[in-house]
Amino acid sequence: MKVTLPHLHELKLAGTPIVMVTAYDHPSGRLVDQAGVDMVLVGDSAANTVLGHDAVSTVGATMDELLILTRAVARGCEHALVIGDLPFMSYQVSDEDAVRNGGRFIKEAGADAVKLEGGGQSVQRAAALTAAGIPVVGHIGLTPQTATMLGGHKAQGRQWQHAKALYDSAVALEAAGCFAIVLECVPAPVAAAITRRLAIVTIGIGSGAATDGQVLVLHDLLDIRPDADFQPRFVKQFAHIGAAMREGVAAYATEVRSRAYPAPEHTYAIDPEQLSAFETAVAASAGGDNVLADW
Ligand code: KIV
Repeated sequence: MKVTLPHLHELKLAGTPIVMVTAYDHPSGRLVDQAGVDMVLVGDSAANTVLGHDAVSTVGATMDELLILTRAVARGCEHALVIGDLPFMSYQVSDEDAVRNGGRFIKEAGADAVKLEGGGQSVQRAAALTAAGIPVVGHIGLTPQTATMLGGHKAQGRQWQHAKALYDSAVALEAAGCFAIVLECVPAPVAAAITRRLAIVTIGIGSGAATDGQVLVLHDLLDIRPDADFQPRFVKQFAHIGAAMREGVAAYATEVRSRAYPAPEHTYAIDPEQLSAFETAVAASAGGDNVLADW
């Protein structure tokens, strides 16, 4: 059964942690859905995880790219709620842009909801989206689309005034109709206070254990980062799929080059009579040359 917004609310009330993860293509959407997660985010982190725009920044991701990825993921998710991430400059300019682009995620890509970053003007955008019937997830704290303005990819809300501003943004996003808010790299006690204050769900990333749920980037938790020499402290690698992929493909290359692969068990047989008839026909059409000699 598909996860619904009321179900997420029930999980919060019951104190059952909500599991969210990113995914960017059909097989990974399918696999994380089969693993039983509650929400799948097709994040603009696709810019670094799968699109190769930049190792860190997410600003390069475009609507066209994220719509294609979201459509692929949504087709694979029978259970999890799928959230499309509004990329940088798809909602900042006007409410109309936000609704038009948010609507494309729902209508064209099959997402169940969209996510946008920031407080301030994004509160108004969230209100415009929800008024249009589009479920919205907010995202405050470290907001990667505006990381330059925040002084880089670092924890936010470590001074009390800034922490209070985040708290106020969370309250405003809830009032604007968001059904969930991602808290990224916020000190744990601040995230806990926001979680206690809100009736809606909080999802933490680098924000401690008191939020209603957790999200991680799939390529971080599975360690599929071929060139990453830095991991944020909140990342835990639960498997090493990147190394397994590299080893698997290297083993394949070795066996192809040594002719160990394909072996007879990977090869289709042909009935000897059929083969003989085939060889005769080929020999006749090749004017007597035995082109099959090496077979
Ligand atoms: O784009 C993304 O993957 C995100 C998560 C880190 C929350 O926004």
